[in-house]
Amino acid sequence: MRLMRLAVALLVALSIHAQDFKKQVIYQIITDRFFNGSSTNDNPSQSSGLFDSTHTNWRLYWGGDLAGIQQKMSYLSGMGVTAIWISPPVDNLNLNIPDSGGNATAAYHGYAARDFKRIEEHFGDASNTWTAFDALVSAAHTAGIKVIVDFAPNHTNDNSAGEVGSLYDAGTFMAAYNNDPNGYFHHNANITDWNDRYQLQYYTLFNLSELNQENATIDGYLKAALLALSQHGVDAFRIDAAKHITWGWEYSMDNAIFNNAPSFIFGEWYQGNTSDSLYHDSYKFANRSGMSLLDFPMNTAMRDVFASNTNFSEIDGTLTTENGNFTWANDLVTFVDNHDMPRFLSVNNNNNRMHEALAFLLTSRGIPSIYYGEEQYLHNDTGGGGDPYNRPMMSSFTTTTTAYSLIHSLATLRQQNPALAYGTTQQRWINNDVYIFERKFFNDVALIAINKNDTTGYSISGLTTALPVAAYSDYLSGLLGGSGITVNSGGAVSTFTLPAHTVAVWQSTASASAPQVGSIGPTIGQSGLKVTIAGKGFGASTGSVLFGATSASIQSWSDTSVTFTVPAVTNGVYQVQLKNSGGTNANTIQFTVLTAKLIPVTFTVNNASPTSVGDYIFLTGNTIELGNWATTFDGAVGPMLCPNYPNWFINAAMPAGTSIQFKFIKIAANGTVTWEAGANHTYTVPSSGTGSVNVNWQY
Ligand code: NOJ
Ligand code: NOJ
Repeated sequence: MRLMRLAVALLVALSIHAQDFKKQVIYQIITDRFFNGSSTNDNPSQSSGLFDSTHTNWRLYWGGDLAGIQQKMSYLSGMGVTAIWISPPVDNLNLNIPDSGGNATAAYHGYAARDFKRIEEHFGDASNTWTAFDALVSAAHTAGIKVIVDFAPNHTNDNSAGEVGSLYDAGTFMAAYNNDPNGYFHHNANITDWNDRYQLQYYTLFNLSELNQENATIDGYLKAALLALSQHGVDAFRIDAAKHITWGWEYSMDNAIFNNAPSFIFGEWYQGNTSDSLYHDSYKFANRSGMSLLDFPMNTAMRDVFASNTNFSEIDGTLTTENGNFTWANDLVTFVDNHDMPRFLSVNNNNNRMHEALAFLLTSRGIPSIYYGEEQYLHNDTGGGGDPYNRPMMSSFTTTTTAYSLIHSLATLRQQNPALAYGTTQQRWINNDVYIFERKFFNDVALIAINKNDTTGYSISGLTTALPVAAYSDYLSGLLGGSGITVNSGGAVSTFTLPAHTVAVWQSTASASAPQVGSIGPTIGQSGLKVTIAGKGFGASTGSVLFGATSASIQSWSDTSVTFTVPAVTNGVYQVQLKNSGGTNANTIQFTVLTAKLIPVTFTVNNASPTSVGDYIFLTGNTIELGNWATTFDGAVGPMLCPNYPNWFINAAMPAGTSIQFKFIKIAANGTVTWEAGANHTYTVPSSGTGSVNVNWQY
């Protein structure tokens, strides 16, 4: 009995620290607006006057805190949530910056840091210690819930008011935007062209003091802050404004995070849909940086289809496109609502549609993120319900709503049936109102049917499925109006009726006769880094994990999860092969072996001309970090940025302490590649800090 308990405790500990996030259900919390767990931090002296106990000024602190989240842990675990994403917890702007109407405002949302190494006094305690944060993390872990911290390394606070961007290092003043002798900030105008790669990364986002991550002090400071968060038990990070931080630096940040501890990272890359002019940059970034992304194109499609009643083909098309482009599409973080858009119910106050959207979210490809209060139908429609009205105080914690039960049920299924976490997606039946899709991981199958029409039922004939021959009852037990189906030979489903506003889920699992791999995390790293492969049927006894002919050293092995360290093999892209103890192969999964830990290096090439509109200069060279001499948009490093034509630059993450060879190439608008002449350039990447290279294009 004691042994069993020990084994269970061990399993819990393992699952908490595994890097496979695909089975998780995330719950996004604006800490200030969730629950006031301690009144002692409501109006702290160093930032007094920013608290509004009446909850009438929507831009002041309303009292929610880390203790409040901790007190609601059983509410969260009862819903089946397995990870909480909390708004930036670090010390924020202390001063009131009145808005244009003269009303007081505060950084209650957390996106205006002053000290990334301390905890905000409104969320923790007046001395900005980690005490409340540590207590929350430990309570979450005890409840089997991971903690995701929203980290905003793009900027500090407002660059012309309040504390004028002031940045502190655990209480010691470093610089302000108007007092910046060491170049800790970029001093450029606000972004005006949201399609310009240079502006996006180097201009100012909404007057927020833009940090210069290429400065060695800032690079070291931000990475040290991330290390502190990992040491305080943080399991994963949501990177704020990932599209606006120097992209190459972010590759090095991701690598630093993974070197600190097992983690999962997803970034905010805002875009409307897959026609966005930088959509290609977004999936190149996700495929190569180690950072997954919030799935904004799918968010648009879900809101269009479920709230605005467009055709299901929009969701179907978005899935097909993204699944073709993102190497680890199952790692994309999907969502219906977040804190930057009107709540779904403000767009369409229809609870059935909300349920249908949530059911789709929880069963379709990607890691679902629930925005706090969705389960309570929370919404305030003032002025359309946008920011700040999409951040009301959590009004109720009842556990009896249909949405709460729905989330619980599908979160449970996500743990039980690997098709949801790891599976492929296949459309099986579609019209304007009906979407029937199948998730499949080897012989684990889930078939999901949604009819969003509010009044019309549909007769579903000609449906086929991979579910084995049998009668299936609705996994949701009719919670959203579904009933059973019969699957006949050849996967033919007997004709049935899908009533108005119905969701049904039919599913089956099978035991694995060979090991089945569904996940790897992280997806990129150097020799020695800890990596986890997850799936099923690995067996109880230790098998092997191969990179080419080289075996990795196994740290732990269970039937569903294997942790190993990356072996010392040549850098490059590998199809990693897991074998069970009997030597049976699993399916392979892609991993990129880096040459060494990553250091941000700024490369400048002068006088790289002539280029015409639509031509870009790229960097390529002799290691995987440089693309192994690739000459394509996806393979080479770039496009480089050109604020001073004809000089081009790019910050890129390079292997520390390594001597590299490289060249610059032109990829013309029509795809033609032109190499610069002469010998390869050479450079030895520093072993720590940051680097820079400045050369002339060789004619
Ligand atoms: C995006 C966040 O989600 C938003 O709420 C915030 O204001 C900006 N980034 C700036 O940090
Ligand atoms: C081929 C290119 O033509 C050449 O210029 C370059 O130096 C080499 N790749 C890399 O060794």
